[in-house]
Order: sequence, then C-alpha cells, then structure tokens
Amino acid sequence: MFLFWNRQTDSAREAALRIRERLDQRFIEKLDSLHNGAWNTGMVSREDLQEAYRKSREIEQNHRVNMWYTFGIMAFVMLLTPIFYNLLTFLIGVKCFLPQNVVVWEATRPISDCGFCRGVEGPLILKNMTREEFAPYAYSSLPIVIKNAVNHWPATKLLNLKLLKEIYERNPGSLDEDCHFLNFHSDLKSISDVFNMSPERANLSIGNTWYVGWSNCHPGVLEELRKLYGRPHFLPVDAEMSNTDYIFLGYEQGAYMHLDYIHRLMWQAQIKGNKSWILAPTPECDHLCQSFSFNVEPGDAVLVDTRVWYHGTSIPKGQFTLTIQSEYG
Ligand SMILES: [Fe+2]
Repeated sequence: MFLFWNRQTDSAREAALRIRERLDQRFIEKLDSLHNGAWNTGMVSREDLQEAYRKSREIEQNHRVNMWYTFGIMAFVMLLTPIFYNLLTFLIGVKCFLPQNVVVWEATRPISDCGFCRGVEGPLILKNMTREEFAPYAYSSLPIVIKNAVNHWPATKLLNLKLLKEIYERNPGSLDEDCHFLNFHSDLKSISDVFNMSPERANLSIGNTWYVGWSNCHPGVLEELRKLYGRPHFLPVDAEMSNTDYIFLGYEQGAYMHLDYIHRLMWQAQIKGNKSWILAPTPECDHLCQSFSFNVEPGDAVLVDTRVWYHGTSIPKGQFTLTIQSEYG
C-alpha cells in the first residue's frame, strides 16, 4: 500500500479509496512495489510522491472537464444547427422581413456593371400604345412612363379605401391571411389597422400621415379586385404574370429609397392621385450614372426595373394616392 497512506488528509484518503476501488488488485500491487522501490532508493521524498499523486489527480480532473466541455459544445452545435437553418430559411423565404433587412440584401446582391443606368437621365415617356408598339421596350431596364395607359380601368373611378374594406369584409378569412404588409413610416401594422382607422384619420383630418402597401394574396379578394383592373394591354402576350398584386395607398411620405428583391420586372398603375418617383443608381455606379425624379398622374403606367434602380416615392401634400403594382417577366 502507499507508504504515506495514513498521513494523508481525509479528502486525499477518500480520493485514494475511490481510485483504489477502480483498480484491480494486481495493478495496485505493482504500483505499491514501484512506490516502495522509489522510496527505498532514498532519492525520492514523501513530498515528491505526494506531489506526483496530486498532479495525477489534477490531470484526471482536467481530462474530465475537457471531455464534458467537448460534449457540451457538440450538443450545443447539434441543437443549434437545425434552429439556425430554419431561421435562415424563414428570413430568406418570407418577403415581409426583407424591407427591414436592406443591409443584409445590399451586402449580398450582385454588383452591377452599370449598363442599366449609363446615359439615362430620366424616364422614357411614351404615349399610350399597343402591345406591338411597346414590344421593343418590354424587357428593358430603362424606366418608362406610359401616359394614360390605364385610365380606362374601372379601378380609376371605383377603387378607394371604402371599397377595399368592403371587398375584404365579404371575403371571410381574408384579413387573417399572412399577406406581405409594408407600413413604411406609418404606425399602421396590418390591413386591419388600415380599415379600422376613423374616417377623420383616414382622410388625414386628424392624426399622423400614413402610407402603406400590401399584397393581395387572398384568392377571393384578388378575383374581385381584378374585375376592376386587368392585365396591362401593352405587356407581351407571353409575359409571365405574378399570382398576386400589390396595392399602395396613403399620403405624403410614400416609400423610402430601396431596391426590390423580386424575380421579375415591375409595373405600377397610378389609379388615384399624383406621385413623384426618385430613382438612383446602385452605389457602385454613382460615378457613371445619375439620380433623377419624375412625376406620374392618374391613369399613367410606370415600368421600372426596381431590382437595379434604387427608388423612392412621395405624394404631393394633402393628396391621396392609390396604385396597383405587380410583376411580369
Ligand atoms: Fe419597391
């Protein structure tokens, strides 16, 4: 047995007992023999043996701590990986999250070669035209305004906030749909908030100004709305159209400068009120291209490749604006 066994502290004795329980007798005898041999040489003191024993216990303890630390990290990574993956999928897949993450999208978008904006000093203003006449411009990145292109749509005369509310109210569940909603700078957080405004707040007699947009993603609502407007007649017959449309309405502030992270080109129909657009090239094209602004009137159609042109809008003070927007490609 260890020569210094009886002189050890109680805790050391208990520790030694625990070790001894785990070792078989043959190994202990060999260890004792080794210790005795070392002791008998006179070259090893009791303190040396105690120190050697103490250090061996520390190493064992450290190994245990490291083992649990490693297991902890592995469990943490295994647990966190699916959560992180699902969160990332959610953030990328859900459009409504994107406007609040322009920094992320700006950092991950492809760098432009500036071909879309070189030499462009304003939109191409076209008179109302046929599909054949518009064909050369149909898939251009050049900003285009087609005057009086949609003023024959019933929406220009009939669509307003009151009718929108009625359409949603007669389509059960439409307000519960998780449609993409943009509140821009206003305090309205949902379509319900918009419809629950008092008439005074809605017409800006009281309260803060407001401007919002949302996707008409409910099939019943979309079907009713599309009776008030149609597929723009000038777009190519084989152009792929979006399954949903957006509506934007409100006052003054309009949309802040942003890019749209969409898959196709955008068209917007100015149903009510005037609107000012400001377009700016992407930052890497600042030295080659210029910013500019233009105005549109009720009945005009606007086509902008909002994936490459930074764009923002504003509405003349006191005017109400309502637009329909969708994608084609
Ligand atoms: Fe946009």
